[in-house]
Amino acid sequence: MTSPEVGGIGHSVKRNEDARFIQGAGNYVDDIVLPGMLHMAIVRSPYAHAELLSIDSSAAMELEGVVAVVTGELLAEYNLAWMPTLSGDTQAVLVTDKVRYQGQEVAAVVATDPYIARDGALLVDVEYEPLQAITNPMQGLAEDAPIIRTELEDKTDNLVYEWESGDAAKTDAAFAEADRIVTLETHYPRSHPAPLETCGIVADIDPATGHTTLHMTSQAPHAHRTLFALVAGLSEENIRIISPDLGGGFGNKVPIYPGYVIATAASLVIGKPVKWIETRSENLISTGFARDYYMKGELALSNDGKILGLRVDMTSDQGAFFADAQPTQVRAGLFHMVTGSYDFGAAHITTRGVYTNKAPGGVAYRCSFRITEASFLIERLVHNAAHELNIDPAELRIKNFIQPDQFPYESPTGFEYDSGEYERALRLAMDMIGYDDLRKEQAEGPKDGKRLGIGVASFTEAVGAGPSRQYDIVGLKMFDSAELRIHPTGKAILKLGVKSQGQGHETTFAQIVAEELGIPVTDIKVVEGDTDNTPYGLGTYGSRSIPVGGAATAIVARQLREKAKMIAAHLLEASAEDIEWEVPEFFVKGSRDSKVTIQEVAFAAYTNHPEGMEAGLEGVHYYDPPNLTYPFGSYIVAVDVDEGTGQWKVRRMVAVDDCGVRINPMIVDGQIHGGLAEGFAMSSMQQIAFDEDGNCLGSNFMDYLVPTAWETPKFELGETNTPSPHHPIGAKGVGESATVGSPAAYVNAVIDALQDRGVTNIDMPLFTDRVWQAIQDTA
Ligand code: CDP
Repeated sequence: MTSPEVGGIGHSVKRNEDARFIQGAGNYVDDIVLPGMLHMAIVRSPYAHAELLSIDSSAAMELEGVVAVVTGELLAEYNLAWMPTLSGDTQAVLVTDKVRYQGQEVAAVVATDPYIARDGALLVDVEYEPLQAITNPMQGLAEDAPIIRTELEDKTDNLVYEWESGDAAKTDAAFAEADRIVTLETHYPRSHPAPLETCGIVADIDPATGHTTLHMTSQAPHAHRTLFALVAGLSEENIRIISPDLGGGFGNKVPIYPGYVIATAASLVIGKPVKWIETRSENLISTGFARDYYMKGELALSNDGKILGLRVDMTSDQGAFFADAQPTQVRAGLFHMVTGSYDFGAAHITTRGVYTNKAPGGVAYRCSFRITEASFLIERLVHNAAHELNIDPAELRIKNFIQPDQFPYESPTGFEYDSGEYERALRLAMDMIGYDDLRKEQAEGPKDGKRLGIGVASFTEAVGAGPSRQYDIVGLKMFDSAELRIHPTGKAILKLGVKSQGQGHETTFAQIVAEELGIPVTDIKVVEGDTDNTPYGLGTYGSRSIPVGGAATAIVARQLREKAKMIAAHLLEASAEDIEWEVPEFFVKGSRDSKVTIQEVAFAAYTNHPEGMEAGLEGVHYYDPPNLTYPFGSYIVAVDVDEGTGQWKVRRMVAVDDCGVRINPMIVDGQIHGGLAEGFAMSSMQQIAFDEDGNCLGSNFMDYLVPTAWETPKFELGETNTPSPHHPIGAKGVGESATVGSPAAYVNAVIDALQDRGVTNIDMPLFTDRVWQAIQDTA
């Protein structure tokens, strides 16, 4: 292990980026002020489904300070009224025909100050003819349902896609053999990433040169640059995307939203920089949501608790445009990972997506493309199966886990899991929480009207897309890159294709370089989010930064170490084969005193390098992973449920995670804490609902209940660290795991408390009245 001064892998180094954040000196999109900059506000539809009859912008234009009102008609002149989505559909930038969800962009007002722009937006007079709204996919599939996408030629229904995975015949055979079939129907509700910083852009097109600089909230700046070039017909070398500090992303800042395109078009037409900063309600109503999967699962089992097969049917609410941020080759994301941590031979998954009158954009909100929904379903099914078979839920899991000697393990839906020690993780969680004692206490029965429930969830995640042969976003292959330059004085700059939203990249990526080259973490600057100054990459989401960008970083550092070794040999007057490396120096084999530090080598690379060798110590590497990485873990929650009121409280929450080699254990713990808080939020209080007219009922933080530190339970963390066999430093991603794994643990715990009263399911979030109603229904 490197010394704390060097701060390589395994050190809980304090974050380099925090020096500016704790001084309030971060630089966010809304901090950017350019000379002559104008401000934009968007006029949004109050209706979920309505014909657009007319837009009268005369009153707005009369307001002093209003410079322009942008409409769909104007955008159509530039061929920008519609744009492609990340899933290959098209989406309206500004409405030209009809409104398809509440909060859809209808017009935009550009003014000299943000308040005038908002006042101007209120003066734009829009006439609508309301239509019947479709607010869930079952309505959308009904025979007589109004068609939402009337602009698509020959579209006679609201079906977006139908897709299947696995082997139907094999699964039927497994079900025919089963002693018991356990069925569960459940809805994973629509939720929202809700980053602290909403989306925004400062679009700056130089009228003289056409040079376009877009300061925008982007988790994927390079991919966005290419998409802007293709959509807006701008020349790619003339576009620079700068994604400065981001106040959280969680998937919300992956799609391209109409606001970005309208502001860019406005800058192009007016010839001045235009800033658009979304309000909180705009963010919640109209940007990329997550989940909204209606799932039916059937598990085939033998009486002694062996899982034989799984059948799943899923219907997804896609909103008005299919804008999921996910790889092109899959229609329902990686939902077919639904076989989880268990070893059985047969699974068959059928899925369909449906257009509804809601905002589009299923984003990977702290999950790898829909594995959250999948993990939730299998873990709920296994819990219910354990109850039906009268087997302890932990024991049933252990009986069916994929065993360590089965890796690499090919799942029935085609994933190749790289490594896992599932039983070890679960047993550690059981020891930590005192599982046997809790079960004994539970067997003693309710106390003071309170029932103890114990919920287990053992998840496997798949994170770090590529490989590029399988994964691409709108055709852009999912590799990633790192460029490393070591300066003559031994300091370094690392430039990345990924983009932090708060995960601590400026520290952990520097730690990888420190580990490989012995340059102290504090001597390494990490640059991301500026397309003119970083190598091409697909960005950060689905926990791909460390699995892909981290691997690229380790490899480029190793490449430079090879060159450094040649220079060391030259300086030590030895042959390269005789040179050995141990942080922080090169030395001659068998003669430890004959040595040079990496800093001395760096200086020589510019002042005294061997003849015939190129000067400098710089390199770039593009890494295409051979596989995803498969972090896993086991979570156990103990809850007390009041059977009189339905109120439930978390007594203990233990989370054992395995993300392979931990680069910065403190940051990893922080990632897990965040994920666990989000998992708790989704299971207990957080949902975006709609009334029958399509009015969004979760459009502000009074209705959309993001938990504070007050509601959030205390988390107790444990770890097993099984290295990923194919990752250069054995790391797996971690960002998403806790949000994927934990919701089922909470729900299982509440169900566990109530199941001898006959309760087998309550849909999330587990609001008190829902729990109380479930108790009444089975009383
Ligand atoms: O792509 P994103 O950065 O969101 O997710 P990730 O690669 O799963 O990792 C989240 C953060 O946790 C990373 O940026 C690292 O700072 C840290 N990490 C770590 O220290 N060791 C690991 N094995 C994985 C992640």
